Amino acid sequence: MDRIRIVGGNKLNGTIAISGAKNAALPLMIAALLTDETLILDNVPRLADVAQLQRILGNHGVDITSVGKRPGDRQYQGQTLHISAANIIDTTAPYELVSRMRASFWVVAPLLARMHEARVSLPGGCAIGTRPVDLLILALEKLGAEIAIDGGYVVASAPGGLKGATIDFPKVTVSGTHVAVMAASLANGTTVITNAAQEPEILDLADCLNKMGARIYGAGTPRITVEGVSRLHGARHTVLPDRIETGTYAMAVAMTGGDVLLSGARAELLQSALDVLSQAGAEVTVNNEGIRVARNGAAINPVRVSTAPFPGFPTDLQAQLMALMVCATGSSHITETIFENRFMHVQELARFGARIQLDGETATIHGIEKLRGAPVMATDLRASVSLVIAGLAAEGETMVNRVYHLDRGFERLEQKLSACGASIERISD
Ligand code: EPZ
Repeated sequence: MDRIRIVGGNKLNGTIAISGAKNAALPLMIAALLTDETLILDNVPRLADVAQLQRILGNHGVDITSVGKRPGDRQYQGQTLHISAANIIDTTAPYELVSRMRASFWVVAPLLARMHEARVSLPGGCAIGTRPVDLLILALEKLGAEIAIDGGYVVASAPGGLKGATIDFPKVTVSGTHVAVMAASLANGTTVITNAAQEPEILDLADCLNKMGARIYGAGTPRITVEGVSRLHGARHTVLPDRIETGTYAMAVAMTGGDVLLSGARAELLQSALDVLSQAGAEVTVNNEGIRVARNGAAINPVRVSTAPFPGFPTDLQAQLMALMVCATGSSHITETIFENRFMHVQELARFGARIQLDGETATIHGIEKLRGAPVMATDLRASVSLVIAGLAAEGETMVNRVYHLDRGFERLEQKLSACGASIERISD
């Protein structure tokens, strides 16, 4: 299994191109199931999760071709996928496939909306908490689906098709909103979704669906209206830049010091995180190429942050911020409000010498002057990358094990960082 070896202490200087967003690409690929025409997606990141979803869609009979690089393409230009669900030959998503990637459960919505039936394995437990799907089921039931759980599978049917309805989410949910928007697009009548998630990836999905002929209004706000249409057609759409990758590299620069342009990044996708970085003492400037982050000599100030749904501070940057705060000049407080148990990085950060106390949902981080490299391992994607950030600043060698978590969500991480001066390499055993 691959490992990543880092020798810490180098500042980061240069340019990092930001890839397309994993969490936008996955629902967009799933949305291709809604039409029998071809959906072309540009700027799809080359990630293990994308490849896994290709396999899952392939199992339903979807053809996907990937178009390679063209002259003039940027260094990290994403791939272009041509996705055709002309014939759906199987409406079952089996346990072996769904259990590997939670988001694949979302295929239940387009299968049900277009084929009027779906049999999808429950995604099961997850390293960052229990992560149930009750709200996704609630949304589909509101739209008229009959749902039973049988042998670990959600068996859903809507013999006469789905019907527009009011869906008032008791809790803000990205997955629930994605599922509701996709299913409602092909429902008969109008659906109103309230307390909808406002994440940029929801807006990206709605923009793409509207290009496919859907009638979705208000995406990106807490109230979304979907006027159902009888069919959707093909379209071409570019995946938006990855705000979590952007925030991760921004934290890395704030941690090591230096000056890096995050090219292609869009500040409005992560303003809350950029504000926190400024409070922490990083210089953040936005120009027409992207976002520049620098820290030259200034101390890292402690901060007090709670994660929250968009536009709040993202849970997917919580671990990375914690790594940064490990070297702050005082005590920081980070509260995780989205997922219980998303603190696995705490124990691993302690291996670098970090001093972190956990009290329920809140971690108190007592800043120390210097970290020391260590062998570490994490059990989820964002926790793993927080260990990379710590390793970049630590004295001596850090070995990050179980790198496949990083490969799920960060495209060519070690190339991007080493191009900016980091001493980081992949070791394949
Ligand atoms: C998405 O997960 C992201 N995944 C996550 O990114 C991200 O952390 C999360 O949104 C929050 O921003 C993808 O987009 C593929 P939710 P999702 O539904 O949609 C509870 C990463 O590292 N809930 O907004 O699954 C749930 O347990 C990943 O890239 C229910 O109770 O998140 C959580 O507490 C990790 N019942 C809260 O809502 C449900 O039916 C928010 O979950 C659904 C969710």
